[in-house]
Amino acid sequence: MVRKITKAVIPAAGLGTRFLPATKALPKEMLPVVDKPAVQYVVEEAVKAGLSHVLMITGRNKNALENHFDRAVELENLLLEKGDKARFGIVAEATGLADIHYVRQGDPLGLGHAISKAETFVGDEPFAVLLGDDLIEENSYLLAEMILLAESKSVNVIALMEVPQGDVSKYGIATPGNRNEEVIQIKGFVEKPSPEEAPSNFAVIGRYVLQPQVFNVLRNLKPGLGGEIQLTDALNEMAQNSEIAGPVVGYIFDGRRFDTGDRLSYLKTIVEMATEREDLGADFSGWLKRFSQGLPE
Ligand code: UTP
Repeated sequence: MVRKITKAVIPAAGLGTRFLPATKALPKEMLPVVDKPAVQYVVEEAVKAGLSHVLMITGRNKNALENHFDRAVELENLLLEKGDKARFGIVAEATGLADIHYVRQGDPLGLGHAISKAETFVGDEPFAVLLGDDLIEENSYLLAEMILLAESKSVNVIALMEVPQGDVSKYGIATPGNRNEEVIQIKGFVEKPSPEEAPSNFAVIGRYVLQPQVFNVLRNLKPGLGGEIQLTDALNEMAQNSEIAGPVVGYIFDGRRFDTGDRLSYLKTIVEMATEREDLGADFSGWLKRFSQGLPE
């Protein structure tokens, strides 16, 4: 029986220490990418892929997240009184996007621990996980393709990207098996290996479609690298024993992905996205070119 996937889990409870002090009172998922918080792009991506029920895992400073996706009645009324329908539309857009629920992680004990908090919401269904600080280019069908694969084959699907060998220690890395176009069998995962120990350069990026048995694995998982409950360790167990939750496969993505949780990638993301904007792109690109050549404005 094909099980339709309708639920998305968005973890946004990390401490965001690489972005301090900006993240002292604001989740890093709320940092603006041009003029929209990163997490709004992620919710839009989930909705575009047909996931209408969203659970956000929140930590300290959850108010900013909840407020962003809630009505802002005073602001909306003010804009309407001024006749500024365009900005009213922009403000109201985030509110009607999806049916968003929230759960607190409590202590930020790692991504695996954050996901385990979604068990009641998810129940007995396969579901998607989208990291709230990881953006996938807007016209990509990555998530929709992953969902189709998980629905038709009852497998766990992990988005992978090839990264330079020198970067493997920043990611969870897959031990690959046979490959058929974008889809690759996975035999295991290692969290942040050294380049010498890495089994490949297929890095886990922040999109997953998982079978609900993952919660059984997470429940019994011991802390791994950095003392955190690592999602990578749970996936490794599942990949090594397909009886737990069915096979684990990778979906190799070769489009553009933006990591907004790291300062340098964040800056590059904003520049790249701003140059492509209809309203800002031409002016910004012109300025950027002059700036990079040391010319006056
Ligand atoms: P990261 O490792 O990038 O987040 O987690 P972090 O720990 O906040 O980052 P730094 O290193 O301190 O800057 C990837 C995703 O998992 C979530 C984060 O919010 C991010 O979306 N996460 C991580 C949780 O929800 N809970 C956790 O305990 C850890």
